[in-house]
Amino acid sequence: MKFQNLGNTDIKVSTVALGTWGLGGGSVWSDKNSTEADAIKLLDACEEYGINYIDTAPVYGTGVSEELLGKALKGRRERFILQTKCSLNWRNEGGNFHYSRDGYTVNNDTRYDAVKRDVEDSMRRMQTDYIDSIIVHYVCKDFPVEETVRGLEDLIKEGKIRTYGLSNSQPFDLDEYKGVKTRISDGVSVVQEFFSILSPFHGRDYFEVCKKYNTVFQTYGVLEEGFLTSREFMNKTFEKTDIRSRIPWVEEDKKKGLLKAFDIWEPLCKDHNCSFSNLVETWALTQYDRMSLLVGMRRKETMSDTVTCLDIKLSAEEIRLMEDAVKAIQVEVLDK
Ligand SMILES: NC(=O)c1ccc[n+]([C@@H]2O[C@H](COP(=O)([O-])OP(=O)(O)OC[C@H]3O[C@@H](n4cnc5c(N)ncnc54)[C@H](OP(=O)(O)O)[C@@H]3O)[C@@H](O)[C@H]2O)c1
Repeated sequence: MKFQNLGNTDIKVSTVALGTWGLGGGSVWSDKNSTEADAIKLLDACEEYGINYIDTAPVYGTGVSEELLGKALKGRRERFILQTKCSLNWRNEGGNFHYSRDGYTVNNDTRYDAVKRDVEDSMRRMQTDYIDSIIVHYVCKDFPVEETVRGLEDLIKEGKIRTYGLSNSQPFDLDEYKGVKTRISDGVSVVQEFFSILSPFHGRDYFEVCKKYNTVFQTYGVLEEGFLTSREFMNKTFEKTDIRSRIPWVEEDKKKGLLKAFDIWEPLCKDHNCSFSNLVETWALTQYDRMSLLVGMRRKETMSDTVTCLDIKLSAEEIRLMEDAVKAIQVEVLDK
């Protein structure tokens, strides 16, 4: 495993991070509802493969992902770097309507009190008295950035969090957060944004600003929720509520384009003795030198495959071949 510091902090995180949206189950990841035993096995596998960076969010399974992680972390909390999020909550205390799902109404609220309540709620669900990193889940223009930063900085002073980051944001948001004068810590040390070989534009817009602040760029959706893992995946059908029934690759013309790309990529998989997942993960790692590869995994088998991407080296020509294969079907996605 490779490690890097989160921004300018002394927090050392593995380059591959475990994403636990799927662990939350519910109607968005409707093919599997995980149990405490599953979460324990997943963290055991993380220890086996050297992954110490775990990402979750209050809304993943509306508390379920955090609760399962809390149980699985018992007795080994300090061996992991735990990252969760603030801003989206279902307390019905105001903020902007975000979505209704599984009987809950989720609002986006980045005001001082909401940020502080979110962290208290997450600590309770995960049975921990500190969280290493808090990501503002959806940066929101309707509330002052100064207020959000004050909440996060106070949480650092109180020893409840160690650093923070942004998600579903724009490069100018990073400048704005870094520009808050009352800041005491170094501020944002990681941005978590959607980025894959099929949707690379938003990330590319972001890298320069990240570089300026030495910020880690954490990519989510690098496997397009499974669509970049295999041809077989394209034949799966999902419930209407499931995130995977709503992404562009279920459309016939896009599916055909992606299958053509798999044909072009196949010889590279043979040459490097690797999976399609590894190929696109390695591609992502070549795009920015402070890249954090956040991959959603619910099984040890997928994790053991994922970590091998760190040993692959792609030449400039191979990278060009991979990118050319998908040019016709690339999509502009700001956030999901
Ligand atoms: N900030 C945000 O708004 C935001 C949005 C979306 C996601 N995220 C975060 O990013 C994480 C990753 O995104 P994601 O989970 O949506 O999608 P993803 O990482 O693109 O794809 C996850 C899917 O790929 C499968 N997979 C992973 N490695 C594989 C491998 N080597 N071979 C075959 N299949 C493999 C997983 O299978 P198994 O589950 O069967 O192991 C899972 O079904 C989330 O879990 C979450 O932590 C953040």
